[in-house]
Amino acid sequence: MNLFNVYPLFDITPVRAKDVYVYDKNNVQYLDLYGGHAVISIGHSHPKYVYNIAKQINKIGFYSNSIKNPLQDKLAQELAETSGCKNYHLFLCNSGAEANENALKLASFQTNKKKVIAFKNGFHGRTSAAVAVTDNSKIIAPINAQQEIELFNLGDLQGVEAALKQQDVCAVIIECIQGVGGLDESKTSFYRGLHLLCKKYEVILIADEVQSGFGRTGDFFAFQKHKITPDIISMAKGMGNGFPVGGILIHSSIKASFGLLGTTFGGNHLACIASLTVLEVLKTEKLQKNAKEISNYFKKQALTIPKLKAIKGRGLMLGLEFDFPVAALRKELIYKHHIFTGNAKNPNLLRILPPLTIQKKHIDLFIEALKIEVS
Ligand SMILES: Cc1ncc(COP(=O)(O)O)c(C=O)c1O
Repeated sequence: MNLFNVYPLFDITPVRAKDVYVYDKNNVQYLDLYGGHAVISIGHSHPKYVYNIAKQINKIGFYSNSIKNPLQDKLAQELAETSGCKNYHLFLCNSGAEANENALKLASFQTNKKKVIAFKNGFHGRTSAAVAVTDNSKIIAPINAQQEIELFNLGDLQGVEAALKQQDVCAVIIECIQGVGGLDESKTSFYRGLHLLCKKYEVILIADEVQSGFGRTGDFFAFQKHKITPDIISMAKGMGNGFPVGGILIHSSIKASFGLLGTTFGGNHLACIASLTVLEVLKTEKLQKNAKEISNYFKKQALTIPKLKAIKGRGLMLGLEFDFPVAALRKELIYKHHIFTGNAKNPNLLRILPPLTIQKKHIDLFIEALKIEVS
């Protein structure tokens, strides 16, 4: 049997990885400035992570959500402390799309309405409601197109208010910094205005922190820069450093009832240990501080790159926009310089999403390689 061929692949087969490096079967070392799509937060195969997961699987790896799992309570406590989001409850699932799917569903239950407001160039995943609020008609199947969605330009408060006045909206979903779309972020006044509008019209504000959360921007969540309080916060990617885990933080004003949400695998023992270890290492290795420091260094060094149009993003969620499509450049970086980078919906943008453990010397290697290729 062959695989269902949906991924265009680079001809590289990693067999092991350590911190910011990935190694192929010939022991060629690749610098990972992509983090497996913003997933690797505390570094590949971090010793604490390997130790804790191995120890846990020797005890118990999984049982269903019909029994008690104190690791889930511990994760909720640690998340509240590390993120500063104290007035929330935690629901655990397995991926980013699933987190958004549950967030949207909960918003609809809570308001008894079904229309959702989202933003152009946004990406929220591929499950039914999540893909319907994603701005990419190519991945929306007819079965998903029945959802009632209205898309606005990032920053268009007037448009959003006009839609909210119709009183049929259950949720506004937003990535504070757009990941797949190309690292755009609006002004603080927009996010604060959006927050106020959601309060005024009693609509659930969902912050999609699937890519930007868990310290990637230097803040624990990207929305925290704008000092807003979303009703639901969705998380995944860096949350498990590669172990599939997602979740939503649900503001205490939204009440739970038995059976409202559910999952078989979500919140299993291994997922909890993976995420607890991420939180511990973020703290002990001061990785949010590192993200901010390396980001500043990156932005300064990037000014020396020829043909650069813009440096976008914050923390270690960065984009370099050129005045030409970057597909060929990405290939050169991989095959010639052994450096992984990411692409975006914007064809001229290179995405940089390294492990949060990255150091200045790695940035120097990248800038030198870019200068050779873009001269
Ligand atoms: C902002 C955002 N939300 C949701 C998702 C979907 O996450 P997953 O692929 O884990 O379903 C992604 C994935 O790239 C994302 O970037």
